[in-house]
Amino acid sequence: MIEGAHGEYLIREIGLTLPELAPVAELHHEVLPSRAYTTADKKAGFAEEIRASLDGRDGLVLGAFTPDGRLVAYKLGYRTGNRRECFYSWIGGVHPFHRRRGLYRAMTHLQHRWALQQGFKYVETHTWGDNAAMMILNLQEGFVAIGAISSPDRAGARIILRKPL
Ligand SMILES: CC(C)(COP(=O)(O)OP(=O)(O)OC[C@H]1O[C@@H](n2cnc3c(N)ncnc32)[C@H](O)[C@@H]1OP(=O)(O)O)[C@@H](O)C(=O)NCCC(=O)NCCS
Repeated sequence: MIEGAHGEYLIREIGLTLPELAPVAELHHEVLPSRAYTTADKKAGFAEEIRASLDGRDGLVLGAFTPDGRLVAYKLGYRTGNRRECFYSWIGGVHPFHRRRGLYRAMTHLQHRWALQQGFKYVETHTWGDNAAMMILNLQEGFVAIGAISSPDRAGARIILRKPL
């Protein structure tokens, strides 16, 4: 079980069962403004999407908890690529009240340390170019832009970022 701490927060691995993933799906919809008004069905569906995406792919779900056990941040990803050496850091976020306290940076460090121990050679992530907070944090953490994917239904592009471990 991977575990760490940042100030008063406990950071630990979350299992891939639906009851354990339900709070992650709930928080995901609070963290992203575009998802705030979704339905209970969609949230439940997202917990299942996480489970299906990570199961059997060396997935890791990290959660950060307050001392009274509330989940306030999450970060998750899984193995990709033919050579099985890339960890794809898929999604993550921090509840607005708990931002700018270094929590996501601490979770990033823990994720990368774990990925190195597992034998991954690099981490990749996709970030929308207009997501300043995530872009800045990722660049500070040693990611470099290696490409971009445009979307037909949204202006701008997702920037492909890679960091050797
Ligand atoms: C991006 C996000 C995860 C950062 O979480 P956080 O815990 O607040 O980040 P940290 O406190 O670890 O910040 C580390 C550094 O990143 C940069 N940063 C973080 N938020 C920033 C912001 N809003 N604007 C500019 N820089 C920012 C800063 O350099 C910061 O260091 P500093 O506070 O010492 O200046 C959080 O803003 C979030 O949940 N955003 C919405 C979710 C999201 O966009 N997810 C990606 C799609 S899945």
